[in-house]
Amino acid sequence: MPAPAIRVARPDDLDALVDLENRCFRGDRMSRRSYAAALHNPRAILLVSGARGSLLAAAALFFRSNSSATRLYTIAVAPEARGRGLGAALLDACEKTARKRGATALRLEVNVRNKSALALYRKSGYGIRERINRYYEDGSDALRLEKPLS
Ligand SMILES: CC(C)(COP(=O)(O)OP(=O)(O)OC[C@H]1O[C@@H](n2cnc3c(N)ncnc32)[C@H](O)[C@@H]1OP(=O)(O)O)[C@@H](O)C(=O)NCCC(=O)NCCS
Repeated sequence: MPAPAIRVARPDDLDALVDLENRCFRGDRMSRRSYAAALHNPRAILLVSGARGSLLAAAALFFRSNSSATRLYTIAVAPEARGRGLGAALLDACEKTARKRGATALRLEVNVRNKSALALYRKSGYGIRERINRYYEDGSDALRLEKPLS
């Protein structure tokens, strides 16, 4: 079965973005206010999959003026849509979008305990840059990962 289409989020996706975030993360959530700001921020791009009101997946990219590395701030797939390649397809779409905007690398942080996300990033070619102690609300460490895009 082909993966569902991936598109740029619109302001009217806000409720569904917040709902997806709440279903996918127990802590360290991106707030409604941050999503609302990102939807109107020219330095951010939100990519989503699914219909308005019932998103299957979402990712947030932030571009910095002083860095050629783009930050993948969050990526999430609805529990009922996992394990079918959507996370990998969304990550690939993020990389293509970042490359089009001139980024030479994609960076992200991931909880050292997040086995599924770590497996996804490893498979997609991300390497470890550093470990950050007690980065998350629950006291877990993060790994900062990076993939060159050139
Ligand atoms: C991480 C996440 C985005 C993966 O999405 P997904 O659509 O299920 O991933 P895919 O089906 O595209 O899987 C791609 C690869 O990731 C790895 N992977 C995904 N889920 C996995 C799991 N539960 N166990 C082990 N490896 C897993 C595998 O290598 C897989 O490739 P394979 O199917 O060929 O083995 C999803 O589990 C999620 O939203 N988790 C909650 C939010 C989160 O933790 N986001 C990451 C924040 S850094």
